[in-house]
Amino acid sequence: MKIDVLLGLQWGDEGKGKIVDVLTPNYNIIARFQGGPNAGHTLFFNEHKYTLHLIPSGIFRPGTINIIGNGVVLDPVIFSEEIKKLSETGHDLTKNLLIARKAHLILPTHRILDAASEKSKGDSKIGSTLKGIGPAYMDKTGRNGLRVGDIFTPGFKEKYTFLKNKHLKMLELYDFEYDVEKYEKEWFEGIETIKTFESIDCEHYIAKALSEGKKILAEGAQGTMLDIDYGSYPFVTSSNTVCAGACTGLGVSPKHIGEVYGIFKAYATRVGSGPFPTELFDETGKQIRDIGNEYGSTTGRERRCGWLDLPALKYAVFINGVTQLIMMKSDVLNSFEKIKIAVAYEKNGKVIDYIPFETDVELTPIYKEFEGWKNNSTTTKFEELPAELINYITYIEKELQIPIKIISYGPDRTQTLFR
Ligand code: GDP
Ligand code: IMO
Ligand code: MG
Repeated sequence: MKIDVLLGLQWGDEGKGKIVDVLTPNYNIIARFQGGPNAGHTLFFNEHKYTLHLIPSGIFRPGTINIIGNGVVLDPVIFSEEIKKLSETGHDLTKNLLIARKAHLILPTHRILDAASEKSKGDSKIGSTLKGIGPAYMDKTGRNGLRVGDIFTPGFKEKYTFLKNKHLKMLELYDFEYDVEKYEKEWFEGIETIKTFESIDCEHYIAKALSEGKKILAEGAQGTMLDIDYGSYPFVTSSNTVCAGACTGLGVSPKHIGEVYGIFKAYATRVGSGPFPTELFDETGKQIRDIGNEYGSTTGRERRCGWLDLPALKYAVFINGVTQLIMMKSDVLNSFEKIKIAVAYEKNGKVIDYIPFETDVELTPIYKEFEGWKNNSTTTKFEELPAELINYITYIEKELQIPIKIISYGPDRTQTLFR
């Protein structure tokens, strides 16, 4: 058996949570492989909305095992808040949620360092979600981090204090006020909550599951253009959001990767700073935001909105080895007369069809215009979609050379068309 991977092809918030939930009945295991509580994955069913930050989006389907993989950075406070909220709505997760021992912990001081670092950057800030993601991954790669497995060892409190003190020294570099104790009590309570869940060696667990013929879906967080290596550095997150991240984040060899589902919106959004060539500052951008309800699921910030960016999408398809595409939010464009796709950019008077290295250079998009579909179609048959929408989809498929297998036309589970 192989493990399928679902990941975002844009700047996050493509609708990963919805589609993982939709696909979960085809899988035995759903496993998050990177990121942390910076993610906000929204699911909609039975007239209820759920937003998940750390917990995989397969959690609502009975009988499915959900794994927080070792590539994830886990904040015990946010984790236990999420568990509590779900248990209030009748979801007991202690049986079907497993946590990788090698996953790193986000400490209260990681969050403070994140905020202090962002403040010190002024106008050049990343626009971080301030969840401590960057500092936690820094400690991981710097070989100072604390892992879930450590919480069961006798010296854990001392290790925690050692690392905290190091962070307090670092905080002296910043002009930033903070209160560690405020977070600490609930952080240690969160550690106790984590202890009530089974922790696993993710790599062995998954290898065994595959050998038993179990079907596994790896759930990405963020999106390709926020990848630490391939995104618009430094305006990125601190993990590998691309397909290779599923190998390291779960302990799976590349030869075990099966389908790679690449998910994108019919337009584009970005939250936080950084280049976004097709961003619309006009009424159209506002209309997309209003109709698409484009506000961050984690921070509530306004998402920047714009047209689909084909060079960026092509790059994402290439870097991930996407085998199937999923297009989201086609309904948001229902009322538009004309719809555009950027096919190239003009940079210093020259036309280019790739993303340049520099993030501070002005790129003027060159657009291809499409007729709007002006139709609130809710059909689940592709052939019955409006001709203009079929034309839009066919154009993207031809350009990317990958089939669009799923089209989403509303936030609810049921508002999904399969081809
Ligand atoms: P994720 O981070 O990739 O899981 O995406 P988010 O949940 O942050 O953002 C996607 C938003 O779009 C959520 O509010 C979803 O409920 C919503 N959504 C998902 N698919 C569709 C769709 O096809 N149409 C509309 N209108 N909303 C959708
Ligand atoms: P999901 O999984 C959209 C953005 C932040 C910021 C940058 C770095 O819901 O798609 P970080 O907190 O990681 O230091 O922030 O990345 N960002 C996201 N944008 N969706 C996300 O997750 C994001 N997670 C981080 O806005 O620009
Ligand atoms: Mg999101």
